[in-house]
Amino acid sequence: MSEAVADIGLIGLAVMGQNLILNMNDKGFTVACYNRTVSKVDHFLANEAKGTHIIGCHSVEELCKVLKRPRRVMLLVKAGAAVDSFIDQLLPYLEKGDIIIDGGNSHYPDSIRRCKELEAKGINFVGMGVSGGEEGARNGPSLMPGGSEAAWPHIKDIMQKTAAQVEGEPCCDWVGGTGSGHYVKMVHNGIEYGDMQLIAEAYDILKRGLGLDEDEIADIFAKWEEGVLKSFLIEITRDILRFKDTDGKPIVPKILDKAGQKGTGKWTAIDALDRGIPVTLIGEAVFARCLSALKDERVRASKIISGPKPEPFQGDKQQFINDLEQALYASKIISYTQGFMLMRQAAKDNDWDLNNAGIAAMWRGGCIIKSVFLKDITAAYRQNPNLESLIFAPFFAKALEQAQAGWRRVNAQASLWGIPIPAHGTALSFFDGYRTAVLPANLIQAQRDYFGAHTFRVMPGQENDHLKDGEDIHLKWTANSGDVSSSTYNA
Ligand code: 2AM
Repeated sequence: MSEAVADIGLIGLAVMGQNLILNMNDKGFTVACYNRTVSKVDHFLANEAKGTHIIGCHSVEELCKVLKRPRRVMLLVKAGAAVDSFIDQLLPYLEKGDIIIDGGNSHYPDSIRRCKELEAKGINFVGMGVSGGEEGARNGPSLMPGGSEAAWPHIKDIMQKTAAQVEGEPCCDWVGGTGSGHYVKMVHNGIEYGDMQLIAEAYDILKRGLGLDEDEIADIFAKWEEGVLKSFLIEITRDILRFKDTDGKPIVPKILDKAGQKGTGKWTAIDALDRGIPVTLIGEAVFARCLSALKDERVRASKIISGPKPEPFQGDKQQFINDLEQALYASKIISYTQGFMLMRQAAKDNDWDLNNAGIAAMWRGGCIIKSVFLKDITAAYRQNPNLESLIFAPFFAKALEQAQAGWRRVNAQASLWGIPIPAHGTALSFFDGYRTAVLPANLIQAQRDYFGAHTFRVMPGQENDHLKDGEDIHLKWTANSGDVSSSTYNA
């Protein structure tokens, strides 16, 4: 077949690719497909794709021939060299204005590079975060496209129809400029680490603190699933806790407590450190997995180092469970606040006009962090697209105010019990730091100037003849201090 009949070409027939093709086919689009191992094309056409309008191609050339103009080619192949290899293979058969979409798990700097290289050749490039796994790909994923904006009108319809739909809205919108699609997907994954860690801490508090068993805890999660915490992760946690082994006992206590990771949470944390944005909760969530992985060392420590003896809880259990729900909610607000702070800085650094409301809307369905809570974030950014911080939005400021007392009681109680709560703890500390006008960083500046002559600046209102506003000041702290500062002020 050499007629241009296909709406889109998709390269990469692993399960994600196959499912996305079948999903697009269901939505009425004609999809052409190709795979490096060509036998998989025939196998797919003879099995999963049997009876559909899907077109199997045996070369990149054939794929490009059957595509309508501008050609839309989506790659769903292993991140890294495979993407560059297919771009090189496609280029001889593409013309100006054609579009390459990378829907794989590419790291965003690669997407920035590819977009620049392809735009220089007149080809439009879209780096698209795809979330939702195999199930999402088949039934409606969250799609986060960013890159060459000229491509958007040509892919909007197909992507928005393929994506998950929540209350009539597609979980796909234009994210922003070059690299932003994969960047936002990376932050999504980081936030997923944070949400999971918060839930795990709540489980630990209920189990070891209140002494509840898995079924009792599942009932609490079932209750939370009806309130502000309603989300995919709370829902599956409820079901996981109820899941029994063949002996009728809950499965979770039988699972080795060493958490794995594939690196996207770590990427977010490293990116936050590089940009100087305090995304503390995702950082703690990554480190909590690192600590969990040191199982042998922890087992040795548990025998040598003691902590508080677990005392039966004396207070009102139901009240404490309500506090915990509020603590989880407040910490989650902080985590998303931090995630959006990071995206705001990345947008500044990369000159992206990020669609914040759209990002929250895209995460409402089809992905692991989907929740009702994201509807409120969408609303906050729709009301004020230039919101400096999520916690300045009246809705969230009020939610934090209401949650605060319970949130503090949970943090205090966990600390007395000796139960680690790195994510809840850092969320509350961030909140207290963020709302504090004067932090003890003045002492840090004094120390830096004392030992390293790093200089400091004067606090507003404290100026005098030797502490002048706008000047880098170095003090002679001791008789031996020199007059020379080591560097200019660089806080
Ligand atoms: P394959 O079926 O030929 O292995 C997920 O692994 C997808 O990425 C598969 O479609 C796989 O093709 C493809 N893939 C992995 N590495 C690749 C490479 N170096 N070049 C081309 N395709 C690759």
